[in-house]
Amino acid sequence: MTQHFTFSYRLIAAPQDLSGLDQALLAAANKALSRAYAPYSQFQVGASVLLQSGLIIEGNNQENIAYPSGLCAERVALFYAGANHPQDPILKICIVAQGDLMPEDTLLSPCGSCRQVLLESEARQHTPIEVLLVQRSGEILILDTVQNLLPFGFKR
Ligand code: THU
Repeated sequence: MTQHFTFSYRLIAAPQDLSGLDQALLAAANKALSRAYAPYSQFQVGASVLLQSGLIIEGNNQENIAYPSGLCAERVALFYAGANHPQDPILKICIVAQGDLMPEDTLLSPCGSCRQVLLESEARQHTPIEVLLVQRSGEILILDTVQNLLPFGFKR
């Protein structure tokens, strides 16, 4: 028997079409991106996390000459939130990136390790995390839950 997995996402044409709250979240992600430490890849990533309290946490990629020692923007932000605000549920994460590592039209979406961490962040708080993926075209993909980024995920 063949089973099918499908999901829906929203496509927003441009940042100005976002809600005021989402525009503020995007501004925070862009601010974080501007402070990325990415001298090796020259690929800067910014992530902003909106908590239920209204607080916005910012993270960016942090690289190291010992390459695997670095960390992605999403996990910097998520782990900061987990370390400092463990009781404040994450409502949304917004991710933005820039650099020549990939062709301009490549879909920007979190790496597998960040998806795994996102999945557990969502599971431990028992409420979905909305994911805003900002493309270099200016378009924004909005997913309602991390489940859709990592179907058949490894979880308890
Ligand atoms: N990177 C992120 O920050 N997030 C991702 O989801 C994928 C990749 C970073 C890691 C590294 O500093 C640079 O982008 C190139 O891979």
